[in-house]
Amino acid sequence: MVAYKSKVVERIELPSRDRRERALAEAGYNVFDLAAEDVFVDLLTDSGTGAMSDAQWAAVMRGDESYAGSRSFAELESAVRDVMGFERVVPTHQGRGAENVLYGALLEAGDVAINNTHFDTTRAHVANQGAEPVDCPAEGAHDRQSDEPFKGNLSLERARSVVDDVGAERVPLVISTITNNSTAGQPVSVENTRRVREFADEIDARFVIDACRFAENAGFVRRREDEFAEAEIAEIAREQLSYADAIVMSGKKDGLANAGGFVATDDEGLFERCKQRAILFEGFPTYGGMSGRDVAAMAVGLREAVEEAYVTDRLDSVGAFAGLLEDAGVPIYTPPGGHAVYLDAGAALPHLSDDEFPGQALVCELYREGGVRGVELGSFAFPDTDRPELVRLAVPRRTYHAEHFEHVAETAASVLENRAAIDGLEIVSEPETPELRHFTADLEPV
Ligand code: F0G
Repeated sequence: MVAYKSKVVERIELPSRDRRERALAEAGYNVFDLAAEDVFVDLLTDSGTGAMSDAQWAAVMRGDESYAGSRSFAELESAVRDVMGFERVVPTHQGRGAENVLYGALLEAGDVAINNTHFDTTRAHVANQGAEPVDCPAEGAHDRQSDEPFKGNLSLERARSVVDDVGAERVPLVISTITNNSTAGQPVSVENTRRVREFADEIDARFVIDACRFAENAGFVRRREDEFAEAEIAEIAREQLSYADAIVMSGKKDGLANAGGFVATDDEGLFERCKQRAILFEGFPTYGGMSGRDVAAMAVGLREAVEEAYVTDRLDSVGAFAGLLEDAGVPIYTPPGGHAVYLDAGAALPHLSDDEFPGQALVCELYREGGVRGVELGSFAFPDTDRPELVRLAVPRRTYHAEHFEHVAETAASVLENRAAIDGLEIVSEPETPELRHFTADLEPV
């Protein structure tokens, strides 16, 4: 059931085919280099790109810009306490700021961090502390067709084998990313979260939840985990987060805000350490690099994120988008994730080998054909790993409507009709850091 109507609108336009062709070539076949004005339906990310509610905009007007002791920060503390169950909050400019603050307080050189799957910035922050990020995704997480309900889970078996190899004393940190962005946005069950808590206790490690998409995850738990079939989203969210020692949050996702993030914990010692790091890297601990109005908008957004109507609308609209793509014969990762639909570029363009970057070729064709911008998450973004060739079409929150999704599905279908003519790509210039090459490298058709 649709849960929103528009109160403010933004004009968009599909540039001419000529313009799209030129824009793509000028961008070096890398859609990160396109001007947003040249994009018709922008599915690059769900991060910070959502529409805020009237209540959030009202909060913006009332944002308190005081350097210290801002009323907006008190509102955030109260929202985090009510919605997420933690007493102490360290605000940061966005999620990766929170990662820097928290992982810097928990990790030392030579440590190992276990995660269901590290998101790019998480991996980079763990590595930046001189620690080693190790992924322990569930068995079958990369199976693009199975209908397992919780493919985002952390594999306890894999985690135990990491500990057997390196020794428990080297593993001070276990992270669960809910939903699991780097595994096609798949959810994590509360049952798995409980078992990860027990595992962390066994090896005397801290347990952190990356809660960026905690509300979507709670929606999946209610739909798929019997114990919670009758529970309210808000209850599920609090229960799942209650197992963690601390959470890292990007307010740009399920904070329903355009900026912001935070660390939250009940551990006083950890809180003090994070606060000191936050002063160094983010700002005074009652604003943390955000303006007071951003803090205020996020405080309202967190409460809206666990409203029943919001979560139902969110999961239903991403699910309906996935259905349109499937009906149009486009191969996708199933079941679809919470924040995005992932296209299976390997299956869509079987005539291209991995080193011709089928995912990136598909991204370029979606833009050329219909002005649609997605992002490659395959061998272009992750060189030297054996991930499947996926293209993520991330869905900004409360922003696009059925007609936009129909346009994307029609675009993808007409791209696939002419798939045999689609050329692969080769890299013609790239930065020195291969982990970040997909943001800035230039390519050319082979
Ligand atoms: N953790 C996860 C699971 C994320 O998906 C992101 C960001 C971050 C941390 C970092 O948060 O962007 O506020 O600094 N993901 C975005 C994306 C960028 O497009 O998936 P941030």
